Amino acid sequence: MHDHTTCGPRRIGILTSGGDCPGLNAVIRGAVKSAHRLGYECIGFMRGYEGLLPPVGYMPLTPQNTSGILHLGGTILGSTNKGRFSATVGINQRRSLDPSLLDAAAQTLRQLGLRGLICVGGDGSLNIAQQLYEYGLPIVGVPKTIDNDLSATAYTFGFDSAVACATDALDRLHTTAAAHERVMVLEVMGRHTGWIALHAGIAGGGDVILIPEIPWRFEHVCQKVLQRENEGKRFTLIVVAEGATLPDGSLICREQQAGQVRLGGIGHVVAQEIETRLQRETRCVVLGHLQRGGPPTTFDRVLATQYGAHAVGLVHQGRFGQMICFQPPHISSVPICEAISRLRTVDPASAAVQAARALGISFGDGPATAIPQGEALLTAPQDAALPPTNALTASLAADSLSAATQT
Ligand code: F6P
Repeated sequence: MHDHTTCGPRRIGILTSGGDCPGLNAVIRGAVKSAHRLGYECIGFMRGYEGLLPPVGYMPLTPQNTSGILHLGGTILGSTNKGRFSATVGINQRRSLDPSLLDAAAQTLRQLGLRGLICVGGDGSLNIAQQLYEYGLPIVGVPKTIDNDLSATAYTFGFDSAVACATDALDRLHTTAAAHERVMVLEVMGRHTGWIALHAGIAGGGDVILIPEIPWRFEHVCQKVLQRENEGKRFTLIVVAEGATLPDGSLICREQQAGQVRLGGIGHVVAQEIETRLQRETRCVVLGHLQRGGPPTTFDRVLATQYGAHAVGLVHQGRFGQMICFQPPHISSVPICEAISRLRTVDPASAAVQAARALGISFGDGPATAIPQGEALLTAPQDAALPPTNALTASLAADSLSAATQT
């Protein structure tokens, strides 16, 4: 029988596209090391998909020049979320790429003799990957984004690092809020989902969490501040997701370009309104791109390394048009088109939201209430809400990077 893993080009391309996040270098390193052991050489395209277009920009990637980058934030290949390949124009809306771009990319892959191209990106970048695949190119996707908003994978790498950063910010705000008896509002990223706000809010001891998935009102937020005062706590920590809509349904945006919104600013609106309504000193911190910088957490290093190695495994097996995904406890793959077909949002009935409510955390959607005695809590659908360290460890042991070594 013909073994397609042993013939054909022995070169693999990698690119990192879209907003950066901690763990990109760990994917590159994981892919290059595992590819090398299978007899492939690797090249990395510079500045995301832009590197595919003339003048083509790429660099050789070797175990030597990718050594020592595991813990580094950013990406040695550079990235862009703008440029000629931009394919997203709004939530779940896709723009067809100009065929001349697809053709130029195809030529580059042919000329460089690539067996496959690993595209590391979020939903916009994976949209491009899908279009390249539909054009006939050998593409494998790797899910990346701090927002954790890709369906088909329980976790994108970068998310855990962003949550760690936001949690650290809350720890710091906690002490200063308590010292000055202030209300502190922390605005976090996440685009149109509340994953970062929810997880950091729980991990950092937030009192109010405002997310796009749960409509909220200022009355309830203010009531929570007052309730805490009645309990003798003269400070309150509020975490608000940049994509949370105001009670009137509006989004606060910095700018709007070609249908794409750049979110940000809701933290100040929330802080101002609380100060006006309650006459309590209120401050706002917008965490911004700090969430995207710095070293990846251990969780993200392990996840990103697995993604890199398994992506090479898919190229080796000739399984193109697939995106690597983490479905605890397994690392597997799904068609890229499935992963980008809808946004993965926080389920308001999830275990994490229920647990937060059980602790008295307010989502601004009603008066804070105590849980009735004896009511069972763990009835919510499981959403892998807490960092699945055990599941990840189990998956590492079980899989042993099997996809990368299968022939
Ligand atoms: O998708 C990642 C993300 O950091 C979002 O959370 C945020 O809304 C956006 O990118 C910011 O984009 P930019 O880096 O273009 O300001």
